[in-house]
Amino acid sequence: MGRKMNKPKLFLDIVLGFSLAFLLVEECVCELEICDRRPFDTNTDPLPPDDRFAIEIETITDLYIPLQRYNVRLYSKDNKTTFMGFTIGLREDEAPNELNKRKPRRLDPGRLHPSPDSPGGKARPPCNNTVTQTDITPKTSVNALWIAPRKGSQCVTIYAIVAIKPDVWYTHEGPLSKRVCEDVRDADDILPTQNDNCQVCEEARYQLTFIGMWSYNTHPQMFPKFHEQARFSDVVGASHSKYFSVYKYNSEASAGMKMLAEQGNTTQLEVEIQEKLGNTVRTVIKATAPAKTNLTTVTSFRANKDNHLVSLVTGIMPSPDWFLGVANLELCTETNKRSEWAQTVTLNLYPYDAGTDSGKTFEAPNDETSPPQPISSVALVQDQGKKKAFARVRFDLIRTYPNPSCTTENSVTNEEEIDDGDEEEKEEEENSYEPPPPIESNTTPKTEVTIALDPDSSESCPMTTWEDWPCEGPCEEGKRVGQRFKYRYHIVDGVIVGKYDGTNSGENKEVPRNCLFMETFNIEDCEEECSEETMEDETEASETNEDENE
Ligand SMILES: *[C@@H]1O[C@H](CO)[C@@H](O)[C@H](O)[C@H]1NC(C)=O
Ligand SMILES: *[C@@H]1O[C@H](CO)[C@@H](O)[C@H](O)[C@H]1NC(C)=O
Ligand SMILES: *[C@@H]1O[C@H](CO)[C@@H](O)[C@H](O)[C@H]1NC(C)=O
Ligand SMILES: *[C@@H]1O[C@H](CO)[C@@H](O)[C@H](O)[C@H]1NC(C)=O
Repeated sequence: MGRKMNKPKLFLDIVLGFSLAFLLVEECVCELEICDRRPFDTNTDPLPPDDRFAIEIETITDLYIPLQRYNVRLYSKDNKTTFMGFTIGLREDEAPNELNKRKPRRLDPGRLHPSPDSPGGKARPPCNNTVTQTDITPKTSVNALWIAPRKGSQCVTIYAIVAIKPDVWYTHEGPLSKRVCEDVRDADDILPTQNDNCQVCEEARYQLTFIGMWSYNTHPQMFPKFHEQARFSDVVGASHSKYFSVYKYNSEASAGMKMLAEQGNTTQLEVEIQEKLGNTVRTVIKATAPAKTNLTTVTSFRANKDNHLVSLVTGIMPSPDWFLGVANLELCTETNKRSEWAQTVTLNLYPYDAGTDSGKTFEAPNDETSPPQPISSVALVQDQGKKKAFARVRFDLIRTYPNPSCTTENSVTNEEEIDDGDEEEKEEEENSYEPPPPIESNTTPKTEVTIALDPDSSESCPMTTWEDWPCEGPCEEGKRVGQRFKYRYHIVDGVIVGKYDGTNSGENKEVPRNCLFMETFNIEDCEEECSEETMEDETEASETNEDENE
């Protein structure tokens, strides 16, 4: 129900007027092209793009992760040539339509929004997923925020049209067009991109949850003969800088790693990490082994500007020299040239071979590998040919600590709250942190207008209450675990802005500049029961896609 965002029919006449002049861009005035509009309504022909302007999707080159947020940047390459107008838009892929061969199905391109962090763009009704200039001041770069579509949406083209003067503009080909396709790996199998220029001021505390997912029930062919012997060692690791590593894939294991992988003894590895404490290591992480291989263990640790990577390992027992681990997972994310601490990161763990023992089964007797081999993945018989994670790690940001002496590019230190004792011992006891408050708010709205006001918004920047969209994600075994978009809108002079509810009264209202920082959308994790049937018509595309893969 929340999905009817636009009333495109209402606008078609107006838009078709424009598209006459637009015939020169695309010979086809089909629905898809209606919104490839010039930033200004002139009659001049577009110029072919030269290489002065380009569009980029930060952190990716050709693959996107479904439902992930990406900063899209349109910029002048020399950082000098300015433009005054622009349109950034999305174009979806098409898929064959069995019901009507001549009318292909249009897949979902995701959502494009004005960037919440850098004002300068606004939505362009009636076009869906189009961001255009808010003013005509000369600029060298602008941003928009793209939320990638869910699984099964194949490829999306993100394009830009640039106008350097009202009557001088460029078509969206070449460098002004980027086609990106779905990364079909499970999102939880992909490490976040490493950030070589982390500029956060605050220190962060993360909760680490190690979720064992290994049991005979789930991994009948990947489990030791004597079930009760299966266990994980303690979990050991560190938050550290790029100059330290606990282990490296494709490199030889350290003595401590060998001992952990072969015997589940963490002593030596802890020593190796402790030696670097205060230098290239911020916190030595240790969590007691989960009571069973399908149970969870939790601990917390700190990270800071220099030590924003996290690594951890646990030995698989019994096994020749196998372990689970993650190396150099990035916690400092970069959005829109601004560093911030990731709220939540999850990653699936699969067994690695430390390269120090040549045994091929869980129970194999000791068989020292000489010379030692580099760390590699364990080639195990896979249950039903499916790669199954042995565990998952989850990192949740639980709080940040302002650092008044910090001088990074995006330093915002408003409060003088400094964390006192900095010794690691003390930290282990400190348990008084609070998880971030939920954004949700369903308290009763004020009623001087008929619009439901968000009680979290201020009088000077009133907002509507959040509108929830359906929980999106695959329906597996009667349960959907995914993400839900939430939207709210600015209210200017008692009128809702940017919501196409048929009245369009808010269309000409400008949101005051000082209110642009108010978030108009949000994403939260969701979980709900579902049945496979409702799933079918909601995400046909992703269903078929998955079937093919399996
Ligand atoms: C572009 O120029 C502006 C102002 O001259 C400067 O602040 C900015 O750092 C430059 N950006 C790049 C990527 O060179
Ligand atoms: C805009 O999006 C809505 C919902 O996603 C869709 O029903 C509608 O057809 C789209 N309009 C255009 C012009 O693509
Ligand atoms: C863990 O595994 C055991 C043995 O396979 C099983 O009986 C138990 O239900 C599992 N527990 C959880 C929480 O999955
Ligand atoms: C682990 O190894 C150390 C020697 O490095 C030894 O002193 C210690 O007893 C071992 N721990 C266990 C539990 O076997």
